[in-house]
Amino acid sequence: MAYKDEQLHEEKVFKDPVHRYVHVRDRVIWDLIGTREFQRLRRIKQLGTSFLTFHGAEHSRLNHSLGVYEIVRRVLVNFADRPNWNHEERLLCLCAALLHDLGHGPFSHSFEKVFKLDHEEFTKAIILGDTEVNKVLKKVSKDFPQKVADVINKTYEDKLVVSLISSQIDADRMDYLQRDAYFTGVSYGHFDMERILRVMRPYEDQVVVKESGMHAVEDYIMSRYQMYWQVYFHPVTRSAEVILTKILHRAKALYEEGGYSFQMEPTHFISLFEEKVSLKDYIQLDEAVVLYYFQMWADEKDPILKDLAYRFVNRRLFKYVEFNPNLQMKEWMELHQLFIDIGLDPDYYLVVDSSSDLPYDFYRPGEEEERLPIHLFMPNKELRELSRQSEIVEAISGKKRTDHKLYYPRDVILQLPDDSQEKKRILALLHHSE
Ligand code: NI
Repeated sequence: MAYKDEQLHEEKVFKDPVHRYVHVRDRVIWDLIGTREFQRLRRIKQLGTSFLTFHGAEHSRLNHSLGVYEIVRRVLVNFADRPNWNHEERLLCLCAALLHDLGHGPFSHSFEKVFKLDHEEFTKAIILGDTEVNKVLKKVSKDFPQKVADVINKTYEDKLVVSLISSQIDADRMDYLQRDAYFTGVSYGHFDMERILRVMRPYEDQVVVKESGMHAVEDYIMSRYQMYWQVYFHPVTRSAEVILTKILHRAKALYEEGGYSFQMEPTHFISLFEEKVSLKDYIQLDEAVVLYYFQMWADEKDPILKDLAYRFVNRRLFKYVEFNPNLQMKEWMELHQLFIDIGLDPDYYLVVDSSSDLPYDFYRPGEEEERLPIHLFMPNKELRELSRQSEIVEAISGKKRTDHKLYYPRDVILQLPDDSQEKKRILALLHHSE
């Protein structure tokens, strides 16, 4: 029997708090789960620094990847009668679902920003490079790794397959919304996925939803909207991310200046600092490694690195106020100078962070990020774009919301003597914008 058709003698099931069970029957899937690159995802948290806000949010990217696989497995049950659908197409969807986040590094967003990395590039590199994952995929067929990479890269010719993994209603989002809601403990993020899965249908090159499922889809869109503002952009999480980013900047700056001798050499970071990170270096980096360095750096001689690392490890986060530097230029300049006057380097201790989200959008061809809209399959067999049928979705369609916050170490400011002019002025400026 061909490797791609091999089934396990007995179905394997993983207990999952969100989907109850994750079912594995295909030998290929089972083998992929066992690779070291996939197992590495256990050591990368799905929500990065969110555990400092929501103490339950310790779930890993491995958790989420198995969940996305399971959702796609269930959706595909409705696909059996699609013309030209065969076992290999099905397996391709399952593999792409399982592996779609393979290239995520520790605290992905901060690392990507500071070191100009792209996790999607690493996902591709792991699938196509000299790895255990690649060996398993190649046993299916010579061009199978490339096909899996194309699906994740959204360049695969069958757009239906792509839309299962990445669209405005894909398995990735459906899993992370519910999983992140479960582990953070918030009451947002829940929607009737079973209902949505039952009404999803393949229609030419896209996945559409039967009109009878529209309210379940509305609920899903609202869940996503609320999760972004209540969880993903939570200002306390952003504060931890600001500090994390600044630790990386500081360590890199000290390394580049050359004169500083680290008590704890940044061995695992050197190729990142020099911007020539190899796949092997990258795979070795996980959150356990990063947190170990931070723990050690909390005893460094450099006061900034020491302080920031101490803050991250012990959760001494920065406070924040609403602040838009574009509108408050004068205050921004004055704060900058005041921070220098009290001996705090504003590059590390006065940070503006902006978040923005577009909850749902209809199709706008040619725009920087084209989003495929969600289509309803109407009783008259025509397709109708969701926001033209749903008033709730129409109300938030295409509306981008942005907010800006200024992060600073309020504890340090409060420790200044009460008669300090700088203290009074800083608090007045920050209070004013609160
Ligand atoms: Ni994902």
